[in-house]
Amino acid sequence: MKNFYLTTAIDYANGSPHLGHAYEKVLSDVIARFRRMMGDRVYFLTGLDEHGQKVQQSARKAGVAPLEFCDQQAAKFADLCRLLNISNDDYIRTTQPRHVKVVREILQSLFDKGEIYKAEYKGFYSARQEQFLQEKDKVDGKWPEIFGEVAEISESNYFFKLQKYQGWLVDYINSHEDFIYPRFRAKQVIEFLKEPLNDLCISRPKERLEWGIELPFDSGYVTYVWFDALVNYISAVGYGTERFSENWPADFHVIGKDILVPPHSVYWPIMLKAIGIDLPKSLLVHGWWLSSGEKMSKSLGNIVNPLDLAEKFGADPFRYFLMREMNVGQDSDFSLDLFVTRYNSDLGNDLGNLVSRLLNMGHRYAAGKVPAASIEEDFEKQLKAAAAKTAEESIALFEGMQFHIALEKIFNFVRSVNRYAEQRAPWKLAKSGNEGDLRTLETTLANMAEALRIASVLLAPVMPEISKKILLLVGSQEAGSFEGLAWGNSLEGKPFGEKVILFPRGDDVK
Ligand code: MSP
Repeated sequence: MKNFYLTTAIDYANGSPHLGHAYEKVLSDVIARFRRMMGDRVYFLTGLDEHGQKVQQSARKAGVAPLEFCDQQAAKFADLCRLLNISNDDYIRTTQPRHVKVVREILQSLFDKGEIYKAEYKGFYSARQEQFLQEKDKVDGKWPEIFGEVAEISESNYFFKLQKYQGWLVDYINSHEDFIYPRFRAKQVIEFLKEPLNDLCISRPKERLEWGIELPFDSGYVTYVWFDALVNYISAVGYGTERFSENWPADFHVIGKDILVPPHSVYWPIMLKAIGIDLPKSLLVHGWWLSSGEKMSKSLGNIVNPLDLAEKFGADPFRYFLMREMNVGQDSDFSLDLFVTRYNSDLGNDLGNLVSRLLNMGHRYAAGKVPAASIEEDFEKQLKAAAAKTAEESIALFEGMQFHIALEKIFNFVRSVNRYAEQRAPWKLAKSGNEGDLRTLETTLANMAEALRIASVLLAPVMPEISKKILLLVGSQEAGSFEGLAWGNSLEGKPFGEKVILFPRGDDVK
């Protein structure tokens, strides 16, 4: 069986980790954990994009050699993964020999096939974007701000034949509905492809840029950073070896909307086609976290350091917030107030209180063990029906990338368990001492435990640690799969754990 192969974009080594990186890793991790629980064998890759002008400049500024600079950055990004509890199977750095070797092999083979040729280039160049520009890139006769200083240059370079594949690419995108998700993003690509494509300049003369992978057929040049970076998706899984087919084609490349057109939707498919490799099954394109409508990124100086929130509240509440607030594919505004509200209300009041209520009563009225459920009246029937519906719907929603709605449904269910507890009011039943009331009380506690078990299994991809804690507290075990989601009585007689506060109030953060 082929692995479910999932990748993130590899982060630029020149900047520090920010919310955008954190979100992409969490989103991918939730998918990876979900697929594992669905029974897939998963290979989950993330990594660091280490070559290019900006890295060279940042290293120079820091007064260290580029590789040393990258080592320091790699340590920061590794910390981010650890802090967010990212379950990646591999971490690729584009300076690793396994990667450099594949990039060089591919360049050589494309050169040998005549897909790469040398030509004189005359035109405009943006050093900031490491990109050649054309008149059509001007807005109102001027170069847009993002290009920084634009110089007119003339030099010999190597070009990759993109143009001859343009018609093929349009047909491919039109005939593969699942290639770009969400679908509306495919329209943007098709729109972009209405203009004739230029062949892609894939070399940089060493006088201008040293920090890159040298062209195997001309040592005077290094390769363009995107041509290098995209190859990580195949170099990491052993392109050229037998192992490759265990993973490729990738099931998802998870990327942000800014790097869809042209790198992932034009360069990458054409590179693969020219090499003779199948295309990835799907590009999952997420939106941006914004701060008052602007992209949260380093250049705006408005980064919320994800490490701070995750460090203060733990990885799971942070992961929950990101997945609950973002409709995958759209943009979302980040606000600390919203984070604290979600934390206090969904996690603290709804989930946390349910757990502590149950543990309290379990020790008080049931000698610390999950009692037997022996009656079934309307309240119980409704609760069981809600559990079955929530499980079915939320799994389907996870599968369809609608994580925010899945979480909404799971938390609606958690609230309905709290309502059930209030309807049955075990604290009142305990006072009566009558046999029937005692059975109802025991049934209520047993059902609350079983409902929490089901909710916790469903929450495991998003909040793996909290899920595990709750499952252990109600006498169950860590969720390995979605099997056993059906309502049952497996917890009967199992010990309740000691009372804990899962979500200490977080008002002081504001
Ligand atoms: N190095 C390239 C990717 C090469 S993939 C072969 C790159 N790096 S990046 O560090 O700038 O961005 C990494 C990912 O973070 C991208 O998918 C990008 O869209 C995402 N984000 C960066 N800022 C973001 C937000 N504010 N919100 C959500 N994600 C955004 O691009």
